[in-house]
Amino acid sequence: MKLAVVGGGSTYTPELIDGFARMRDTLPITELVLIDPAADRLELVGGLARRIFAKQGHGGTIVTTSDLDAGVEGADAVLLQLRVGGQAARQQDETWPLECGCVGQETTGAGGLAKALRTVPVVLDIAERVRRSNPDAWIIDFTNPVGIVTRALLGAGHKAVGLCNVAIGLQRKFAKLLDVAPGQVHLDHVGLNHLTWETGVRIGGPDGEDVLPKLLAEHGEAVAADLRLPRHLLDRLGVVPSYYLRYFYAHDEVVEESRTKPSRAAEVAAMERQLLEMYGDPALDEKPELLAKRGGAFYSEAAVDLAASLLGGAGDRVQVVNTLNRGTLPFLPDDAVVEVQARVGADGAAPLPVPRLDPLYAGLIAQVTAYEDLALEAALRGGRDRVFRALLAHPLIGQYDYADRLTDSLLAHNREHLAWA
Ligand code: G6P
Ligand code: MN
Repeated sequence: MKLAVVGGGSTYTPELIDGFARMRDTLPITELVLIDPAADRLELVGGLARRIFAKQGHGGTIVTTSDLDAGVEGADAVLLQLRVGGQAARQQDETWPLECGCVGQETTGAGGLAKALRTVPVVLDIAERVRRSNPDAWIIDFTNPVGIVTRALLGAGHKAVGLCNVAIGLQRKFAKLLDVAPGQVHLDHVGLNHLTWETGVRIGGPDGEDVLPKLLAEHGEAVAADLRLPRHLLDRLGVVPSYYLRYFYAHDEVVEESRTKPSRAAEVAAMERQLLEMYGDPALDEKPELLAKRGGAFYSEAAVDLAASLLGGAGDRVQVVNTLNRGTLPFLPDDAVVEVQARVGADGAAPLPVPRLDPLYAGLIAQVTAYEDLALEAALRGGRDRVFRALLAHPLIGQYDYADRLTDSLLAHNREHLAWA
C-alpha cells in the first residue's frame, strides 16, 4: 500500500509517522511519500520519520520529494495537510479581524475566510493532479478550513473525505474521565467542521447507553475547563460544544484576550523552530513531547482509521468525518458538507442518521453553512463583492460596515496568495 502526504514537511508529520508505525497492522504501508516544496524542512522531517520507522521495526520505505506529480504517482491514498502561506499568513488571519472587534482565528470568522480563499485553489489543483495520476486514489483532507475545502473537493467530483481531530480528542478525554477504553466511547457528534456539539456519549456503540448526563454531573468541571467555557453553560445546554464554539458563545471575551496575549501563530512558529532543531538531531528517534503542545493530538490515529477503512482492508467502520449531507441534517442542502458519525468503507462515507436537532444548534449550523457556501463561491470565482457577501453572511460579522472593512483588510493582507486580487 502506498500513501502520499502533501505537506509532508510539516512539523506535525512525526505525529502521523508515529501513528503509522504503531498501527501498522491496521494500515500496512509499504511506501510512504512525504511531499513538500520546502526541501530543507522535508529533509529534517524525513530523517526523523525514517528513524521512527526503524526504531519501531516498520519495514515500509519513506521517500521525500518536492515533485508533487512524481510523489503521488500510484498512491492509494493522498493525505493533504498543507498550509498556504505558513504560520506567517496565519498570524495575519489572527490579527487584522481584531481591528473591527471581530475574532481573529485560523478557521473561524474573517481569518478563516482568508485561509479558505488562499487554500481552495491550491488544493483543487493538487487533487486534479492526483486524479490524473490515479483516479482511484482517495484524498483525505486535513487541510483547513476542512469543511469548505472538502466541499470544494466533492463539488469537483473528487474521491475525498475530510478529517478533523476534535471528535477523537473528545472521545479520548471522555474515555479517561469515564474510565473506559476509548474504543468503547461513541459520540453523537453533529454539526460542521469546527462547529460541532456532542449531543450524546454512548458506551459500546451507536446504540449504547447515553452517559452524557452522568459525564456532565460527575465531570462537568473538568470538561468545561478544557473548553474554557463556564460549567453552568454546559449544564444548561445539556450537550458538550467543541472548543471552537467558544468563539461564538464567548466572542467578545476572546477578542479582549486576543488583544493582549501573543497570537497562536506566534506560539506555534516558536514551537516549530524548536521542533525543527530537535528533528535535526540524529539521536532523536521518536516524536518529541513538545509536539503534544500542538493542537493535532490523535490526528494520526484518526487518519490511520480512516485510511484503513477507505482502502478496504479494515471493513466498514463508524467514524466521525466530513462528508456530503445528503439529507442527514434535513434543514441543509444535500451538497453541504457536515461533520458527523459515518459508516466508512471502500465506497466512502455514509452518515448515520441524526435525530431532530434543537433549533439552538440547527440555526447556527444553517447560518454557517450559508457562509461556507458563499465562501466557496468567493474562493472559486474571486471578486471583492463575493468576499463581502461571505463576510456579511457570517454570524460573527453580519454588519455591512464591518464586512466592508474586513473585506479591504483581507484583500490587502492576501494579495500575493490570490491570483484574482
Ligand atoms: C486542532 C484542529 C485543527 C487545527 C489545530 C491547530 O487540531 O482540529 O484543525 O489545525 O487544532 O493546532 P495548532 O497547534 O496549530 O494551534
Ligand atoms: Mn480540525
